[in-house]
Amino acid sequence: MSAPLGVAIVGCGIIGVNHARAIARHPGLAIVALVDAVPSAATALADLVGGELGLDRPREHASLEAALTSGGIDLVVICTPSGLHVHLAEEAVAAGANVVIEKPLDVSLPRARRIAQLARDAASRGIVVSVISQHRFDPASVVVAAAARDGRFGRVTSAVASVAWWRDQAYYDSGTWRGTWALDGGGAVMNQGVHTVDLLVWFLGTPVEVSAHTALLAHERVEIEDVAVAIIRFDSGALATLHATTAAYPGLSARIQVFGSTGSASIDDDRLEYFHVAGGAAGNQAADLVPASELKGAAPPADAFVTGHLRQYDDVVTAIRSGIPPAVTVDDALLSLAVVRAIYLSATLHRPVAMTEVLEGVLDDVEVVTGG
Ligand SMILES: NC(=O)c1ccc[n+]([C@@H]2O[C@H](COP(=O)([O-])OP(=O)(O)OC[C@H]3O[C@@H](n4cnc5c(N)ncnc54)[C@H](O)[C@@H]3O)[C@@H](O)[C@H]2O)c1
Repeated sequence: MSAPLGVAIVGCGIIGVNHARAIARHPGLAIVALVDAVPSAATALADLVGGELGLDRPREHASLEAALTSGGIDLVVICTPSGLHVHLAEEAVAAGANVVIEKPLDVSLPRARRIAQLARDAASRGIVVSVISQHRFDPASVVVAAAARDGRFGRVTSAVASVAWWRDQAYYDSGTWRGTWALDGGGAVMNQGVHTVDLLVWFLGTPVEVSAHTALLAHERVEIEDVAVAIIRFDSGALATLHATTAAYPGLSARIQVFGSTGSASIDDDRLEYFHVAGGAAGNQAADLVPASELKGAAPPADAFVTGHLRQYDDVVTAIRSGIPPAVTVDDALLSLAVVRAIYLSATLHRPVAMTEVLEGVLDDVEVVTGG
């Protein structure tokens, strides 16, 4: 068996800690370096890795450059504020490292296009760049995506997605980057809803047009939206509605329902709630398709957040070891980011926005606003 891949985690905040817990459980990975602009954040995570997690204490660095110079790094994991993702990913790829980028890919489409091109070029040199979308690996999502792709739902006609969450004011006040266009890139859609946008695109295919409204109704001292509604039209003709909010006290669930001419399914908080396809044959009910623990109503395991990332790490390690592209490519993440940007553009410009306008950069210079 080959030696574990040496990992550097860049950004040792909330999600950096979750990555450390997931990587610690993966036999193909070893955390060798921690990078944070705030030294105490790297030290706190090094304490956790060397203490509670019982692993060798990683090196601590104040910059990615210093970590790369010290050597031993095969995989760089970027867990910084969203607006810094691409700059750091470019630095890592330039040093020949594989890269995992937290969602969203970045907040800027020009930068996102740049890293997509770089990732395509790097793939030809055997370098893997993948973007976290851990819910693509949830058993419920895997079942629904396969059914949509295999035609078990017949013609997919529509979808309804809602992320009805609550974030209190203290959440937005907890970091100066939160709630800013420059570093968070948006609010309920960009930060919280992007997972659901990504699943919608995965289930329904190529988005062609977006109409949306956004508003800031229950928070202050932020630039971004805390509620958004959108209609997304796909090239298949399917129509989807998306509702994303951080202003739904006390916080309800994230749901996606997919409807087709011969079948439909519903996922609620990552669990399969409903699945039915025509024909009545065995294997067309939710309970036939996922373990009982992945059905709506099962008590969520305490480590669900870690498990999601661990599933995606399995995929990334396989991609690095085998040369097979990762399940989530930078191009996938670019498309989801473009849908999020289309939502903000539509809300700002008060008109439907074609995905071609967004993807081809025609609207790159538009400064988006909330509550347009
Ligand atoms: N996949 C998920 O479910 C999920 C969940 C939460 C957050 N995220 C994403 O993870 C990213 C970070 O979110 P968070 O909640 O952990 O934020 P956070 O504020 O808790 O942590 C960010 C860390 O990055 C550090 N940092 C800032 N600039 C840096 C730089 N130039 N170099 C190195 N470190 C730097 C900060 O000091 C901080 O410790 C965001 O992009 C967010 O969207 C993803």
